[in-house]
Amino acid sequence: MDLQTIKEYDKKYFMNTYGNRTDVVFTHGEGMFLYSTEGKKYMDLLAGIAVSALGHNHPKLTGAIIEQAKKYIHSSSLYYIDKQALLAKKIVENSCADKVFFSNSGAEANEGAIKLARVYHQKKGNIRKFEIITLEKSFHGRTLATIAATGQEKYHKHYDPLTPTFKSIPMNDVEAFKKMIDENTCALMIEPIQGESGVNPVSKEYVKQIRKICDENDIILMFDEVQCGMGRTGKLFAYEHLEVEPDIFTLAKALGGGFPIGALCAKEKFSAFEPGDHGSTFGGNPLACAAGLAVFDAFLEENLVSRGNAVGEYLIRKLTKLKNSSAVISEVRGMGLMIGIEFNQDIAKKIKSMLFDAGFLVGSVHENIIRLLPPLIISEQDADQFIKAFALILEGIGS
Ligand SMILES: Cc1ncc(COP(=O)(O)O)c(C=O)c1O
Repeated sequence: MDLQTIKEYDKKYFMNTYGNRTDVVFTHGEGMFLYSTEGKKYMDLLAGIAVSALGHNHPKLTGAIIEQAKKYIHSSSLYYIDKQALLAKKIVENSCADKVFFSNSGAEANEGAIKLARVYHQKKGNIRKFEIITLEKSFHGRTLATIAATGQEKYHKHYDPLTPTFKSIPMNDVEAFKKMIDENTCALMIEPIQGESGVNPVSKEYVKQIRKICDENDIILMFDEVQCGMGRTGKLFAYEHLEVEPDIFTLAKALGGGFPIGALCAKEKFSAFEPGDHGSTFGGNPLACAAGLAVFDAFLEENLVSRGNAVGEYLIRKLTKLKNSSAVISEVRGMGLMIGIEFNQDIAKKIKSMLFDAGFLVGSVHENIIRLLPPLIISEQDADQFIKAFALILEGIGS
């Protein structure tokens, strides 16, 4: 099918929530690259928004999916599932969590975390501890509860009345947190690095202080690592940079390397779910968990987290050098392979489109930020190719 026909069908039959999509249909991918119906090759520096950590058609991931699909794709969590048990074990062995529950997406993992936090307090008899505090500019998903948790009004539009009991406070403001706490406060949910609002990290000092306040007030500290987890920031989990451990954290995106799976991870003390409290038809099915296990295996066997981090540092160094000679880049920030390039003008969409024409896929946030979330398999040579094209574009727009 050609691009024009696909666009016609999409317009006629698909509910358009994504606006004007980029004019391309991909037919296949290999490593860092995606190939289009028009025969063009694109270097993928977005990885499906932090999902394809192993790039495309990674033999370990595709091999594991094919092998599992040939055996059986789905049974039910009414029965024991070997890959589910193994993936839960893998996450626990490599993180601060003691127990894991699988979902199908990040939003669902966060819904689970919100439910778990309430269940924890209610089972202790604290039935009034139901309020969840989140940060302004956060993003936690698109379900009714997670849009209410999301600290950005644009996601709330048309959904009044919002699910109650969510409140947001400014990031890195300890006093604002203290002021917001009362006898109803159940949990604080934060992203260690906010992704959807343009790569904004929380400070170490802030997290240290909120950890202490949470402990003193019996408030659960939850980290949404849906985007920044699974090697994205140069450590397996972003909390490792912060020198504190969350009570509950969530994963999705890169966990299945492109196969949908999310995880709700909790310390023993907070693993308050009991039979009947939560569930999912598809969550943690054999195919999804086989994909998750293959991602972990590739991470460990190919040392991808530290390799990705090294290339991330290299990219940030090169971009910072570009910034120093550019009139339009105001800031380069990020960690590992989660990188934001902020401009002092509203040119992010224009630059994204010029990069696309030059064969590079990147993301834009608001009107002035370019976001890079490349696969962890990216090499310095790939980074150099991108920097060369980006520098040329900056030159072209007179910067
Ligand atoms: C930090 C964070 N949490 C939650 C979500 C929602 O994940 P999903 O789209 O898989 O529901 C996202 C998606 O971008 C995210 O970045």
